[in-house]
Amino acid sequence: MKSTNLPLFKNTKRLVLRPLELTDYENWVQAYSCLKPAQNEWDETNWVDSELTKKKFKELLKLQNKQSQQDHNYDFGIFRKDDGVLVGTVRLMDVSRGIFQNAYLGYRIFNIYWGQGYAQEACKAAMSIAFKDLKLHRLEAGISPANKRSIKTAKAIGLRKESLSKRRLFVNKKWVDVLLFAITKEEL
Ligand SMILES: CC(C)(COP(=O)(O)OP(=O)(O)OC[C@H]1O[C@@H](n2cnc3c(N)ncnc32)[C@H](O)[C@@H]1OP(=O)(O)O)[C@@H](O)C(=O)NCCC(=O)NCCS
Repeated sequence: MKSTNLPLFKNTKRLVLRPLELTDYENWVQAYSCLKPAQNEWDETNWVDSELTKKKFKELLKLQNKQSQQDHNYDFGIFRKDDGVLVGTVRLMDVSRGIFQNAYLGYRIFNIYWGQGYAQEACKAAMSIAFKDLKLHRLEAGISPANKRSIKTAKAIGLRKESLSKRRLFVNKKWVDVLLFAITKEEL
């Protein structure tokens, strides 16, 4: 499925979800320069200057654009409507068509904006894009059993815990267990 002409954006009460554009460069640099120290092992702290160049940003946009054209990954910036600030990112990853019609949902809110419900609001909008615009049937989220904040978000947006997948991912030089959460279109 080619998705070039799909309207890949969504407005919510407080947020706008849309792919990053070249004009977002300053906003993007600001987002990755103003973080608090990592708040847990899944969080990240400020990027170094060499990771925040315009060249790197252009490469990122090119990659994201290519991957969405290929119906493989869809990346969205989460922008606050009030002031246009980039507060996080959400992804629909590893799209699988055929008899599966599945994608993995990934989300990140920059840590200075945690605790305001932005992840929930943005993920619900991403779910709407997944099911209505991209015609997917199922979304899954793979979450570390210890990532309590993410589990709370997943449950709040209606994902069901399905299973514990043993030694599923190779992270930091070891195989780690992952809790699989999911939702299908019928449950939205
Ligand atoms: C996971 C992550 C996105 C959750 O961020 P978050 O801001 O806690 O997410 P939510 O949108 O679910 O916000 C819930 C909190 O906002 C509060 N809140 C405030 N206003 C709210 C509103 N209008 N609606 C809903 N919740 C609101 C809730 O009470 C809750 O507070 P609490 O955490 O003190 O209980 C964030 O911790 C993160 O980016 N982590 C690092 C990356 C990561 O782990 N990603 C997931 C990998 S699987």
